Amino acid sequence: MTEPDRGDDAASRLFGNRFLTEDAPDNEFPSTGMESRDAMRLLDEDLALEGDPQRNLATFVTTWMEPEADRIIAENLYRNFIDHAEYPITAEIEQRCIRMLADLFHAPGETTGARTQGSSEAIMLGALSLKWKWRKRREADDKATDKPNLIFGGDVHVVWEKFCRYFDVEPRIVPLRENKYVIGPEDVEPHLDENTIGVAAVLGTTFTGHTDDIVGIDKLLVDLKGEKGLDVPLHIDAASGGFVWPFLYPDSEWDFRLEQVRSINVSGHKFGLVYPGIGWLIFRETSDLAEDLVFYENYLGKTDATFTLNFSTGASMVLAQYYNFVRFGREGYTYIMKAMQQNARALADKLESGGDFELIGADREQLPLVAFKLVAGKNYDEFDVAWQLSAERGWMVPAYTMPPNAQEVKIMRALAKETLSREQVDRLSDDIAQACSTLEKKGGAHPAERKQIKTGTGY
Ligand SMILES: Cc1ncc(COP(=O)(O)O)c(C=O)c1O
Repeated sequence: MTEPDRGDDAASRLFGNRFLTEDAPDNEFPSTGMESRDAMRLLDEDLALEGDPQRNLATFVTTWMEPEADRIIAENLYRNFIDHAEYPITAEIEQRCIRMLADLFHAPGETTGARTQGSSEAIMLGALSLKWKWRKRREADDKATDKPNLIFGGDVHVVWEKFCRYFDVEPRIVPLRENKYVIGPEDVEPHLDENTIGVAAVLGTTFTGHTDDIVGIDKLLVDLKGEKGLDVPLHIDAASGGFVWPFLYPDSEWDFRLEQVRSINVSGHKFGLVYPGIGWLIFRETSDLAEDLVFYENYLGKTDATFTLNFSTGASMVLAQYYNFVRFGREGYTYIMKAMQQNARALADKLESGGDFELIGADREQLPLVAFKLVAGKNYDEFDVAWQLSAERGWMVPAYTMPPNAQEVKIMRALAKETLSREQVDRLSDDIAQACSTLEKKGGAHPAERKQIKTGTGY
């Protein structure tokens, strides 16, 4: 039988894909297109080499949702969240989420807030509100407004420094030191003055998952108000902790139960258990939102009051957040957070009892994660362990140095997320022990391997 002569193009259309034997378009805007199936496979096959989210214990961000939530998300991808006139129900669902969060965070009465792209946008808006409220107070007293400052610890996320640089505010950063990775009132007090627009405290730090002494800082600010008449607001960066503390430590006060806490940000896409990107900014009272931040615009026939840094964005994640709220309620979130905490503790016990590691603050209130470091006297370090573990089994467990002045301290951190089952905890701890035993024999990573080690905290 003779073979049909289809020509190269026809044959590749029938049996293969153009990109199988050609480089993927990367530099120039492609002059021609390709079959939709080819484009899909090109992407699929490229992405197959990405890190596996199941083994990504670095990120705080959600990597799995229920199939029903996936369906809601997929069905609403076309919906532009900002089109309030066309999609009023979506806008109302955002407001429901804001009211529910205000309730969760013990707001004393009616208040306001916004959906954002994540905690970073929420922090930019919240901190701008601090700055502009401070400016208004100063202007009312006929005082200078050219030297605003903001106080926070070295344990904050980089977004706080970013805010200060973008919006011309002096950052007053309290340095950390060995064995002190959060801040308290004694650290804040020396930096306070009449130009302080606010203090930012973290609930669940990116580095060790602990919390600043929010009760202590609040008391300092309440006393300051009473004694000197200086009203310095406290903003809580609860990017991770805002969906953990209410369920794991409901009696710990960090939110609007404390008088000087005027605004809170939280990432829906972290422990709110929604995919990226969704965040929330919630004010204690409507009057805590600086008026100047609000834009009233007549858009497509409806007057809309908005305060966001973005305009168009997808509605899916707002809907997915509401899905989680009604699907889980307090009971469900508590169950899930406790399950994560139990698995984090199981992993911590194994790491500690193995003898290679010591835990960092596992006896304190902490996000469901394990922060740990090698015991003294090893011939390899935490970066080597992260490298060896990823080389042997593909686990992504970050190693990093702490911020100044604790930069000599190296630590590792593993998130125990919803997708990390107990079976996997056992496997991970065995794999970590195995990586250590390989390093024991070979004595640290090769300099060429060291160059490839990723040193970020993972977000
Ligand atoms: C404490 C803290 N604040 C802010 C952020 C920034 O949050 P997002 O990634 O939601 O913008 C993070 C992210 O890891 C964080 O851990």
